[in-house]
Amino acid sequence: MSRQNFYKTTALAFAMMFGSAAANAAPTELVVAHALSATSHYAVGAEAMNADLAKRSNGKFKLTQSYGGSLGGERELAEGTQIGTVDLAIISTGPVGNFVPDTLILDIPFLFSSYEHAHAVLDGPIGQKLLDKFPEHGLHALAWGENGFRNLTNNVRAVKEPADVHGLKIRTMENPIHIEAFRTLGILPTPMAFTELFTALEQGTVDGEENPIGVILSANFADVQKYLSLTQHIYSPAVILIAPSVWDGLSEEERSWFLESAKAGVKAMREKVRSDADNGVAILRDKGMKVVDDVDTASFQTALQPAFDEFSKKFGKDNLDAIKNFKQ
Ligand code: PAF
Repeated sequence: MSRQNFYKTTALAFAMMFGSAAANAAPTELVVAHALSATSHYAVGAEAMNADLAKRSNGKFKLTQSYGGSLGGERELAEGTQIGTVDLAIISTGPVGNFVPDTLILDIPFLFSSYEHAHAVLDGPIGQKLLDKFPEHGLHALAWGENGFRNLTNNVRAVKEPADVHGLKIRTMENPIHIEAFRTLGILPTPMAFTELFTALEQGTVDGEENPIGVILSANFADVQKYLSLTQHIYSPAVILIAPSVWDGLSEEERSWFLESAKAGVKAMREKVRSDADNGVAILRDKGMKVVDDVDTASFQTALQPAFDEFSKKFGKDNLDAIKNFKQ
């Protein structure tokens, strides 16, 4: 346990021993780290979680945010919660499969047909079973949050069909499923931490990237990218992680507060993702991006068939069908 977390755990133990006196004591402050800006859906989610937690705990806990990857990229944030140098983190599943391989199934392109479908799966027994896998790998997950459906941006050409992406150098997350899918499409995938991406786009180290509309907006990618194609090729879940060293120091009641307040955070995060998706394209157009909104989705799905065959072997057709056909 880090020194920082030792003090926190000790403070928690004291708070539990001295009961109501703790209500008047200074709150235990925990930092929620993420890679996005203060206007992003992760920031909105973390703020809603903080407000809910403050209410439930009668002011015993306070969450403050560390924005913009200042504590590291998403892989480092997952590692940080693992070893206790980061208290809580909100990250996409991008790097998570490198820690909890079962979650990679969620990163398959065109697996989810809508936000409602994704929420039903993630909030139901399949999502819970996956959350339960995290402790086996030294992590603890409170809830599935949301990053959103990903769309392609680039500086070379308008992308409408698979032939248009051939030979493009596209930054991907450090995620083997995404990398395999992109390679199948003839893209040159370049895995890179998000914290390095703006400069890489500005300097032309990569031609493009892919992210949900809210990220493209809040990261100001319109300043460095010309074309936006509404490919919606992958639904990108997020997850709220808590350091096991923090979790282990909480009482059962306190754990229930964190679990419930994480749900409030997820609700606000999803609302923000949805409003960015609904309103953001017009803003990006105004900022000068050339938007392709008639992407030939069916031909992308056909071109991805060899990758789908591989994923079916890797994860089992029954498991994929259980997600694709899930009804609440
Ligand atoms: O592209 C990524 O790495 C992720 O989508 C991001 C922007 C860090 C949000 O989780």
